[in-house]
Amino acid sequence: MPPSATRRPRTPSAARRARRSTTPTSGGTEAINLALKGAAWAGRAKGHRIVTTPVEHHAAGHSLAHLEKFGFEVEQVPVDRYGRVDPSDVERAITERTILVSVMAANNEVGTIQPVAEVAQVVRGRKGVLFHVDAVQAAPWLDLDVEALGADLVSLAAHKIEGPKGTGALWIRRGTHILAQQHGGSQERHRRAGTENMAGIVGMATAFELRVAERAAVATRVRAQRDRLAAAIVADGVELTGHPVERLPNSLSVIIPGTDGGSVALALDLEGIAVSTGSACATGSAEVSHVLSAMGFPDDEARGALRVSLGRTTTDAEVDDAARVITSVIRRMMERTPVAGRVGAASIEAAP
Ligand SMILES: Cc1ncc(COP(=O)(O)O)c(C=O)c1O
Repeated sequence: MPPSATRRPRTPSAARRARRSTTPTSGGTEAINLALKGAAWAGRAKGHRIVTTPVEHHAAGHSLAHLEKFGFEVEQVPVDRYGRVDPSDVERAITERTILVSVMAANNEVGTIQPVAEVAQVVRGRKGVLFHVDAVQAAPWLDLDVEALGADLVSLAAHKIEGPKGTGALWIRRGTHILAQQHGGSQERHRRAGTENMAGIVGMATAFELRVAERAAVATRVRAQRDRLAAAIVADGVELTGHPVERLPNSLSVIIPGTDGGSVALALDLEGIAVSTGSACATGSAEVSHVLSAMGFPDDEARGALRVSLGRTTTDAEVDDAARVITSVIRRMMERTPVAGRVGAASIEAAP
């Protein structure tokens, strides 16, 4: 693994340092569990308060809910309509008893990028508080130099960069103390017992190296494709969700008013287009997205959520085809909906 998710080590000693600070895991979920539970229990003597946002992935949200059962207090700092947290709200939420702050780098449902560098600055000003960043979704797209970022713990997953599934990593800043969550052998400096998945680790490191080398070019190409698709879809009352500019290049999420995202996804599937409703992980569940709820969307609107993700290998022809099919399916579904039920259109702006 490189020292950051994004920067390839240039010297053998940098590579050695990177290996020392990176604990391989079975994926993003395990990395996040290890970071949050490990930091919480390590900090228990100092305090019991943890600050986070309501739009985190369930791997974080459910881990923190679990910790609440053991007396930890979790403060969720609200997000705005675009799903962004204000670093000054995070600052206000930190008390003498706070031991940990956890904020994702980019949201997996709406693609909104959080101001994690600013949050890191706030946290670094408060002695004894650790900062965890869930970078699972962001790492393929953003230049996240973890050393410069100022986080103490950064979670990553290989499958987001076409690496092997079931492989991830927790980057741990040198000197950061967390308690192991699985016990046995002395692997990973006692942070994670058990024989390493060496094939997965090598696959993950290779996937990161390959991705980092072409990340900027891929991001530029995919952003242009996404903007073209967005321009076709976001019309006639279809509302873009997430931040119009501060969003991942590959992410397009919308609400199709008066519809059920599941039915639209099914109709698109029959036409050969794979999309998801709110969260991919929650697809098939009747619950509305906790992310859209936190952003202020009422349940009846949130039910019409649809998420289209582009990838490194998406071609221009596929984008054109998707634009044609998706707009026609959306139009068909919305024709069955009374116009009064529609929300105002929003446009996606060209990202910088
Ligand atoms: C932001 C975010 N965090 C965590 C996870 C969980 O990672 P994994 O599926 O590798 O356990 C995901 C999965 O998609 C994610 O998008």
